[in-house]
Amino acid sequence: MKFLPHQVIAHRGASAHAPENTLAAFRRARELGAHWVELDVSLSADDVPVIVHDDTLDRTTSLAGPVRSATAAQLAAADAGSWFHPDFAGEPVPTLAAAFALFAKIGLSVNVEIKPVATAAERMALCEAVRAALDMRPSGVDVVISSFDPEALVLMRALSGPEPLALLLDNLPQNWPALVERTGASAVHLDMALLIADVLAQMNAAGLKVRVWTCNDPARLVPFWPLGLDAVITDDPSLFLGL
Ligand code: G3P
Ligand code: MG
Repeated sequence: MKFLPHQVIAHRGASAHAPENTLAAFRRARELGAHWVELDVSLSADDVPVIVHDDTLDRTTSLAGPVRSATAAQLAAADAGSWFHPDFAGEPVPTLAAAFALFAKIGLSVNVEIKPVATAAERMALCEAVRAALDMRPSGVDVVISSFDPEALVLMRALSGPEPLALLLDNLPQNWPALVERTGASAVHLDMALLIADVLAQMNAAGLKVRVWTCNDPARLVPFWPLGLDAVITDDPSLFLGL
């Protein structure tokens, strides 16, 4: 089975090869042949969009506590690499703006995942800051915006961006078609565990692109690829691109 570069999205960068959600992981993804990366965005204490997966800094950085309690300057001085391997010591928590600058330079496009937050005010702050970063990015960086939070997608649409939206699903509520329609999403990013042929057919029939996460085993996609999968989100793009 042959995958084309635009069908393979490196999850948190090439996170099997480098510390997730760092510039090193994004560079590695490009070296491995990926044209797209996925990343997770939250707000720092001073309202700067920064790239971290967890709510807290404990697992992946030299700092501790909520991401929202550290300033962008503190995050820039943090070590988000050593936990993965000493070779990556000193790799900072990147800002979304720094990632966009790198993507323009090395030729990457990006799936920006907006992390769910606790309140409507927090959602507004996050979406407005992401919108501003998107508007200031260099040309040539294509973007798909995704979220598990349908309200974040509704808000991103209200903020009038042209980027396609994708609803992330880690379960399949009966009303998923209405849920997706309300967000204005043109794609669904589906937990690999939910992928069955019927669901894929229904989503495609509804005109939705379907991308699955997180798949690190190309053989698992063999039955589904011919049925109309748009892309795979993987920790290791080399498995799919054979580089
Ligand atoms: O965007 C796909 C995937 O990243 C969603 O889950 O928890 O890895 O952000 P998570
Ligand atoms: Mg993610």
